[in-house]
Amino acid sequence: MGRMSGKVALVTGGAEGIGAAVGRLIVAEGGSVMLCDVQLDKANALAEELGEKAAAFELDVRDLGQWQKAVNATVERFGKLTVLCNIAGISEPGNVVDGSLDTWGRTIDINLNGPFYGCRAALPEMEASGEPGAIVNIGSMIAIRAAAFVAAYSASKAGLLGLTRSIALDCAERGVPIRANMVHPGAIRTPMYDRYKYSGMDEPENIERDFAATHPMNRIGEPEEVARAVVFLASDEASFTTGCDFVVDGGGSIRS
Ligand SMILES: NC(=O)c1ccc[n+]([C@@H]2O[C@H](COP(=O)([O-])OP(=O)(O)OC[C@H]3O[C@@H](n4cnc5c(N)ncnc54)[C@H](O)[C@@H]3O)[C@@H](O)[C@H]2O)c1
Repeated sequence: MGRMSGKVALVTGGAEGIGAAVGRLIVAEGGSVMLCDVQLDKANALAEELGEKAAAFELDVRDLGQWQKAVNATVERFGKLTVLCNIAGISEPGNVVDGSLDTWGRTIDINLNGPFYGCRAALPEMEASGEPGAIVNIGSMIAIRAAAFVAAYSASKAGLLGLTRSIALDCAERGVPIRANMVHPGAIRTPMYDRYKYSGMDEPENIERDFAATHPMNRIGEPEEVARAVVFLASDEASFTTGCDFVVDGGGSIRS
């Protein structure tokens, strides 16, 4: 029996990158997954590859109405909802003065309001299942150690950290068996990372070298390394863990 056996997860950002790796691992560990994303074609292709324990649903995390539909579709398809993984996110460069107002608004909408809407839509259904549940939110090394060149991103991920801890306390104090935790990745080799690597700001190999150097382990992480942490926190193996910051960053957040 796998670690996710009997669990039903809704995963945002499930079309590619870290979200896709999490979807794959949930199914490999015996769980069911609804892959939610704005890129429905890619999410559908992955769901088809994963078989009957996976399905896809079009969701823009900025829209609470779409969230309600995604939660309902998950329960209709798999009978319940016990795990929510808020993984969809964006990262656009810009400091406070130079960064565009669009970047600020879009980043807060997707990275912070999105998970807020998700928790708001999913928590009642997770509670109704009567089973132990888990929320795993994806933060960033940057939530703990801010970076000057991504002001909106730093703020959105630090805000999500506060939201996660508030939910963890709320559920624990009400005696609701739902845990809420965060995983903070360092630089991870996904389409998001590639957009920086091939941005033209410098030679790709220089960008790779510089990103790697911000981590004491001096390399870029792989999506599967993050997925393993997410699935651990989503599973009952982490039954006494709530409100935690689980770093998967090659030591990046402890570098002075
Ligand atoms: N890759 C990294 O280096 C890194 C580092 C730290 C944290 N993270 C975080 O990990 C998460 C996943 O990042 P990734 O690298 O896999 O990104 P990615 O860009 O490779 O994939 C993100 C996925 O989210 C989806 N998405 C974007 N906006 C959406 C929206 N409004 N509604 C629904 N889906 C939407 C995209 O379509 C895509 O499938 C993000 O929250 C990101 O901030 C990534």
